Amino acid sequence: MRRTDSIEETRGVVRYWREHGHSVGLVPTMGFLHEGHVSLIRRARVDNEKVAVSIFVNPIQFGPGEDYESYPRDLERDLSVLSEENVDLVFIPSPEQMYSKEHFVYVDVESLGDVLCGAQRPGHFRGVCTVVAKLFNIFRPDRAYFGQKDAQQLTIIMQMARDLNFGVEIVRCPIVREPDGLALSSRNAYLSEKERKAALVIPRSLSLARNALENGERDAGRIRIIIAGEIEKEPLACIGYVEVVDASSLRPVERIDRPVLAAVAVKIGPARLIDNFMYPEDS
Ligand code: PAF
Repeated sequence: MRRTDSIEETRGVVRYWREHGHSVGLVPTMGFLHEGHVSLIRRARVDNEKVAVSIFVNPIQFGPGEDYESYPRDLERDLSVLSEENVDLVFIPSPEQMYSKEHFVYVDVESLGDVLCGAQRPGHFRGVCTVVAKLFNIFRPDRAYFGQKDAQQLTIIMQMARDLNFGVEIVRCPIVREPDGLALSSRNAYLSEKERKAALVIPRSLSLARNALENGERDAGRIRIIIAGEIEKEPLACIGYVEVVDASSLRPVERIDRPVLAAVAVKIGPARLIDNFMYPEDS
């Protein structure tokens, strides 16, 4: 596995692949890799001849008081996961490599970025889109892989790829869960044993909502109440939001008469966890 930390060297490796006619799949990550990331890498391996992964905890997508400093990091472990997965290239830039002192241009996200997580984390998607745009420009991949757990991020990146004509296919990959239902997230590492148990209220509340939908409930307000009602039973859980939104515009809906995304953000101890499902499932 080739490891780079400079943009120029990374471009050189990808250029060489291209000259040899290889397709390139990119999996952007912030490291502390888990099975969710591994599922993206495996999907990229199926679709492409070369697979590249970036590891970069992107400072500009964290707001003041958020967990940039404490975000979990374990580079040695990440490297062994990546080499076991036969990744061809891992790019691990420093913040200085990605953002020079004279960095003044950012990607501005309009309507999709001001709801759900965007409403609670101002500037977050501007930071995400800016770094992803930079990674797209560095790698020029054929395809890039993102998980459905970060549903709003995925929707915004798809829109960005279209609006800014990146010519990159964005591949949506399903949420990977622990056997007990908790969605995999690097932030699960913040949870104590007690908090980890409490966090199960999140998938439980979403499955109650999914059951109600499957049994014919079409009132989005009722679905929100089912989810919030279940989460509120857990004393360690504090709701950030519970929303049922149009799956494309991410605007709240009243009736469920089109594909929707039911999404939650919940604080459990030090961890802000997100989870969601789409209804119908394959929309
Ligand atoms: O989902 C993530 O890990 C990050 O938001 C991403 C897409 C790598 C950008 O920093």
